[in-house]
Amino acid sequence: MFPHPLIEQYHQAGQGQVFVFFNELNSTAQQQLLAEAAEIDLAEVARLTRTLLHQTVVGRDNSGLAPAPYESLPETGGSTTEWAAAKAAGEAALRSGRVAVFTVAGGQGTRLGYDGPKGTFVVTPVKAKSLFQVFAEKILAAGRRYGRPLHWFIMTSHQNHAATEEYFRAQRHFGLEPARVHFFRQGRMPAVDYGGKIMLEHHGAIALSPDGHGGSLRALERSGALDLMAREGIDTLSYFQVDNPLVRAIDPAFIGWHLRRGSEMSSKTVPKAYAAEKVGHFCMQGGRLVVVEYSDLPMAMQQEADATGRLRFIAGSIGIHVLDREFIRRVAEGGEGVALPFHRADKKIPTIDSTGQPVKPAKANGVKFEMFVFDALPFAKNPVVIETRRGEDFSPVKNATGVDSPQTCRDDQLRQFARWLRANGATIETDASGLPSAVVEVGPLFGYDEDTFAEAWNRLHPKPAIAAGLYLG
Ligand code: UTP
Repeated sequence: MFPHPLIEQYHQAGQGQVFVFFNELNSTAQQQLLAEAAEIDLAEVARLTRTLLHQTVVGRDNSGLAPAPYESLPETGGSTTEWAAAKAAGEAALRSGRVAVFTVAGGQGTRLGYDGPKGTFVVTPVKAKSLFQVFAEKILAAGRRYGRPLHWFIMTSHQNHAATEEYFRAQRHFGLEPARVHFFRQGRMPAVDYGGKIMLEHHGAIALSPDGHGGSLRALERSGALDLMAREGIDTLSYFQVDNPLVRAIDPAFIGWHLRRGSEMSSKTVPKAYAAEKVGHFCMQGGRLVVVEYSDLPMAMQQEADATGRLRFIAGSIGIHVLDREFIRRVAEGGEGVALPFHRADKKIPTIDSTGQPVKPAKANGVKFEMFVFDALPFAKNPVVIETRRGEDFSPVKNATGVDSPQTCRDDQLRQFARWLRANGATIETDASGLPSAVVEVGPLFGYDEDTFAEAWNRLHPKPAIAAGLYLG
């Protein structure tokens, strides 16, 4: 007789090791372990073990892969009229209140190595604002501009949920109406060892980790966020990642392209800076739009060039999308073969051995399973990819040093502020890369993109002197 029916199910599924220390736990710890065990879909774990763990890995099937078409910016050959029409449509959508904002902030941020929710990491050069503050101010400013305050959905993880909510409370939601800022946790998946056994983190806890940014679609559904959107008349979600302060969080032209094309999911692209740049690639395969990760596209293909010497697989994916509410529901429900696939990641997973002693592995000792949001693209009707300027949309903080680090992100913000100032007649000294010598900052409440900055700057009388420490906010 097992002390709980769930324990029996685990034994029957060959996962009885999860409860091997159960009798040593006090009753609170027992309840916690049972609650964690109840979160896990054992049939799903068995399927993933069969398909991702035990099958010999042959790599992705790249047959018939071709570069995906995308809408070029006017300055690189796109139609000025189409872009203007898209922007007008996006602005109308914002004025009608059908758009909300969605930030995925459930990642573990291991590469950055910062202790705390990544959104609380300080990024701006003068005022030392956090990522969350930058987004909050963009959202506040856009709400004012279009006369409709925006709802903001923020996906957290079990690990950072309480700290994220507490941070927003302490900062008084940066002036946003708390009732329009919605936090919800993403799902978790257990790590398994190379024998497919669910691993324990310690005697009373399963080694669980977030189920990837693709888990956001399920989480939006399960948390009731989609229903809330429906009640509020919201059908369009502007999606971005928490690590990218440059993002145009609310971009009317992007929203307009998406709506005018009747798209269910749209994406932004930047041309890859060099062949080996570590971004996903927008491709077509079997008539569908797919993103192929850099690790899955052979380097020879990444280096292929056309007759003009331009990379063939040029369209890089930067984790910025617009999604239709009912499309999210369809994918989240996973009916009719539209479920997102899981990917396998081999990791060093802190665990315990069969005697209960802690193990800190020196090399990968198991596998985590994650879903990626871009895997929803092949299921979307009329997906559209539009080009964006890297300097106006993308400079993530991923690593502690080197590429995509706090330093590169700070420099990219400074270059952007310098560009905006210069474009509007200010004199500002920069080096050849556009980096100004004076450290200045433009707050989103002053201007959050080229248009809003130009309007605010041109209203300013007299104009301030451009000097180190200048803050426009
Ligand atoms: P990354 O793939 O950069 O992962 O996430 P990460 O967890 O932030 O960082 P590392 O790999 O541990 O260093 C891209 C975006 O997706 C979110 C992250 O918060 C970030 O905004 N994300 C990632 C989630 O919300 N949930 C996840 O399970 C994974």
